[in-house]
Amino acid sequence: MMYAQEPRVIIALDFKDELSTLLLVDQLQPDLCRLKVGKELFVRCGPSLVNKLINKGFDVFLDLKFHDIPNTVAAACQAAADMGVWMVNVHASGGRKMMEYAREAIDKSDHKPLLIGVTVLTSLSRLDIAEVGLDIEPAIQVSRLAELARDSGLDGVVCSPLEVSNLKQQLGQEFCLVTPGVRPAGAAIGDQQRVMTPSEALSAGSDYLVIGRPITASSNPIQALNDIISEC
Ligand code: C5P
Repeated sequence: MMYAQEPRVIIALDFKDELSTLLLVDQLQPDLCRLKVGKELFVRCGPSLVNKLINKGFDVFLDLKFHDIPNTVAAACQAAADMGVWMVNVHASGGRKMMEYAREAIDKSDHKPLLIGVTVLTSLSRLDIAEVGLDIEPAIQVSRLAELARDSGLDGVVCSPLEVSNLKQQLGQEFCLVTPGVRPAGAAIGDQQRVMTPSEALSAGSDYLVIGRPITASSNPIQALNDIISEC
């Protein structure tokens, strides 16, 4: 099983407070999973919780999706690197210069997190992107932004598991693909629209699987994680 080398599952810690977060985290082992801290948890608990997770030995994906002028994004990426996170992300639609500045900031840091791009949010339909001035298929925009992210020096992108095989073909095996929208066989799909199982996503070429509720909302999260690991 591939987990002997490095954990591919990133658990989305979509909790409202530190207590419930640590209640789960204290049952987890850093050699079996990584952790994702998103906007809600970060706004509520801040860098101090991220530091606690890192001090417990976990790799942390700081999922704040930076999107601003190049200097500001570079400074935020520098701050994330100084915090010691393992992965950080920016919106690829912020453009080449913004991504290049982010790359430079991380390259200058002592600790260098993986720098990942967000292409088109999966919540946006063809109509939604037309309304903000992009009259093209979302898949075409995903492919265009992923290529721009790679050419701007990013390490990879977040994408749907259904986009993985095309993007690997287009951008090469080394370009890291991080996929939410993963559901173990038989699990509730919830608000995710187009899903794959962990083994399907990994076979398609996904490098890391972001999985939240199938683990965090389970009555036995450790069993749920172990089941996912053995399914891979
Ligand atoms: O609970 P679930 O497994 O659906 O959680 C998936 C996580 O991945 C959430 O934190 C969600 O915000 C994030 N995400 C996503 N789809 C994207 C980007 C991020 O579900 N396109």
